[in-house]
Amino acid sequence: MQPESTVPSKALVCVVDANPKFRADVVTALTSFYEVVEHSEQGAALEWIAFHPPAAVILDENVVPRGGLPLLREIFCVPELDRVPIICTATNDRSMFLADAIGLGARTTLVKPFRRSALLQALSKEINGKVERSWVRIEPVQRAALQRTTQAFNAVADLIVDGKPLPYQILSDACGPLVQSVQAGRYKDMLNAVKDHDNYTYVHSLRVSIFLSVFGYSIGIRDRDLVTIASGGLIHDAGKMSVPYHILNKTDRLTDEEMQVMRDHVTQTATFLRSSRDLPQGALLIAEQHHEKLDGSGYPRGLKGTQLNELSRMATIIDIFSALTDRRVYKEAMEPAQALHLMTQLKGQLDQSLLKMFKTVLLDTAHSMI
Ligand SMILES: [Fe+2]
Ligand SMILES: [Fe+2]
Repeated sequence: MQPESTVPSKALVCVVDANPKFRADVVTALTSFYEVVEHSEQGAALEWIAFHPPAAVILDENVVPRGGLPLLREIFCVPELDRVPIICTATNDRSMFLADAIGLGARTTLVKPFRRSALLQALSKEINGKVERSWVRIEPVQRAALQRTTQAFNAVADLIVDGKPLPYQILSDACGPLVQSVQAGRYKDMLNAVKDHDNYTYVHSLRVSIFLSVFGYSIGIRDRDLVTIASGGLIHDAGKMSVPYHILNKTDRLTDEEMQVMRDHVTQTATFLRSSRDLPQGALLIAEQHHEKLDGSGYPRGLKGTQLNELSRMATIIDIFSALTDRRVYKEAMEPAQALHLMTQLKGQLDQSLLKMFKTVLLDTAHSMI
């Protein structure tokens, strides 16, 4: 258990349901993205929600002792809570609870059993509603890139949970508009549009995908090959979907065990991607080698020097640059110039000639984030 001060409360989700298995399933499904607190009983749930207003509540019809509706009414009666998004659940789409909840003002309902992606989409829609609603103001191709990449991310999460292989088309379709935007030199709205989005792994992966595509385009990579690179960027940290929220977002130094869990995301990603029958080699390489360093100090294989080709060197540079300039729930983004300066100090680890070559384009790209 983390000390409270190290756990960001920004994306706290409360599940109120009398069924312990359902609550456990929700915790498992959401743990990479949100901190989840569970309750089964109306009084305790209301007391907790009132003192820790969450980013969203998942409320079932069968709350103890009188069902979900009285609790919903009570939540809506507390002025500080009337804007907390509530996702109402029931086992029947003709449930009176769902109809009454909508009548009271609940906007999202889910009928059990539902897929993890449906829950994530519902939460994302509610929690990031304001962010995602602002996407209507950006040009259609960039909007399509954001919408398709979020959908692809949810689909990938389902495949991982279900132990199914990844059809490359999920990525290539999602990255089509993204690459189109990069080739047209119009991608900065996308970077701005996800600044306040709370799914860190998605935002980081999207930014890596964009930066890698911009890099690739600047050295002459086009069309299908650019989609391969963009796809590699989007999928490179898929294994992080299995890393618990408290480790993924920990502000203090990770323990050795936590560090190992974190580092295992590369192996988990590789295992998942290697089950794909049609994933291009370039995308796999980005995912497998983005934490390797030229001097052999990286992981998981400690590759060095000529064992790392240009694409994996680019992936490492982009991943570090993105991580430094990512805005997190517990830290502000580092200035791009400062991040690049810091990276020039990593002489033995990063390909400095590549870093120098891309410095200008990165600075220009990243300016939209400030
Ligand atoms: Fe990674
Ligand atoms: Fe990464």
